[in-house]
Amino acid sequence: MKFFILLLFFILLLESVSSLRVRRVSRIFNVKKYGAQANGQIDDSKAFMEAWKAACRSSGTVNLLIPRGIYLVGPIQFKGPCRNVNSIIVQIQGTLKATTDLSKYKRADWVEFGWVDGLVLTGGIFDGRGAISWPFNECPKQKNCKVLPTNIMFVNTTNTIVEGITSVNSKFFHIGLLGCTNFKGSSIAIRAPANSPNTDGIHLERNRGVSITRSTIATGDDCVSIGQGNSDVTLTRIKCGPGHGISVGSLGKYKGEGDVTGLTVKDCSVTGTTNGVRIKTWENSPSASVAANMTFENIIMSDVVKPILIDQEYCPYAKCDSNSPSRVKISDIKFKNIRGTTKDPEAVTLRCSKGIPCKDITLQDISLKHVGGVRGTVSALSSTCLNVRPTFSGTLNPPPCR
Ligand SMILES: *[C@@H]1O[C@H](CO)[C@@H](O)[C@H](O)[C@H]1NC(C)=O
Ligand SMILES: *[C@@H]1O[C@H](CO)[C@@H](O)[C@H](O)[C@H]1NC(C)=O
Repeated sequence: MKFFILLLFFILLLESVSSLRVRRVSRIFNVKKYGAQANGQIDDSKAFMEAWKAACRSSGTVNLLIPRGIYLVGPIQFKGPCRNVNSIIVQIQGTLKATTDLSKYKRADWVEFGWVDGLVLTGGIFDGRGAISWPFNECPKQKNCKVLPTNIMFVNTTNTIVEGITSVNSKFFHIGLLGCTNFKGSSIAIRAPANSPNTDGIHLERNRGVSITRSTIATGDDCVSIGQGNSDVTLTRIKCGPGHGISVGSLGKYKGEGDVTGLTVKDCSVTGTTNGVRIKTWENSPSASVAANMTFENIIMSDVVKPILIDQEYCPYAKCDSNSPSRVKISDIKFKNIRGTTKDPEAVTLRCSKGIPCKDITLQDISLKHVGGVRGTVSALSSTCLNVRPTFSGTLNPPPCR
């Protein structure tokens, strides 16, 4: 008798342990059962939408399954709320291929997940087929341009997990997070040519609680860009390059922008990029916001043009009217243990606003080396500091600015 009670106890214990690890799926919604052809020729958008609607109307933990195959899809919106669903697992084993006809995109994204709580997105290749539309992108030349669609957009989602997805050749940004709370991304792979325009890897705007880890980003613009209104963002073990590096900003372009606070960038490598880690704010900013409490730590730079950069006179165009300094207030920023190689001998540039100097900027253990100019001439490194008096400690190459 005692033995049986003990056995029962153990079985119950095992059950509770395993249910913590395995997500119990109550129903599977397979897009093929909803008519998806998976032949890469016929548009499967309608089947995807039908399967999503059925899953979203269901209850408990549900699985939207996209099996092996190539699916041609136009802009699709996986929209919640899914009232009786605890968690919706979108499991992709195949490749999604974007429509190239730009007239079909009414929103500024291709695949959108919006207003969902407890979304889990795993696997899948999102091929934006951007090469055809890159020549139509006017944003590198013009401030008020029409943006092309982002590959994967998350809008106002809460408690989201994204793992093991791949995004290639997006038309514009690869992944966008807008107004999300508690987002965890891992093992994300992003690829586009180094010269593809505005193909930022992951762009964040107005989110709270974002962590991205163990991801590889090779693209034509910023690997990760942390735009306005974000708080509590952690980026770890990101391999970035080629691209424009890991950037905060650009901030201060529009009225009513939110603050950026609580950023940690740690254990990352940046290779063959134009910038390493940077904070950029526009001159003439119509709104006064704050960029504060940021740590950039344990970062390896290889052949980076500008490894450490604060630029409060940001202007990507040939000409910007520069009659007033940036009003974005930068404070409490730490650069710690950053080493590797730089292409520009001026490896640290802190160009802060004439209007509001940067405050509490720390550089600790910065150890960089010049990889050599056109004729292989290696120069001594230098730093430039404008409107800022940083605190220096530890090993410093370049030496502190005076
Ligand atoms: C997202 O949520 C915020 C509040 O949490 C709300 O102000 C905003 O309008 C929402 N955005 C959209 C596009 O619904
Ligand atoms: C700075 O940000 C970190 C990480 O988000 C947070 O835990 C901490 O409380 C913040 N510190 C201040 C002084 O706001």
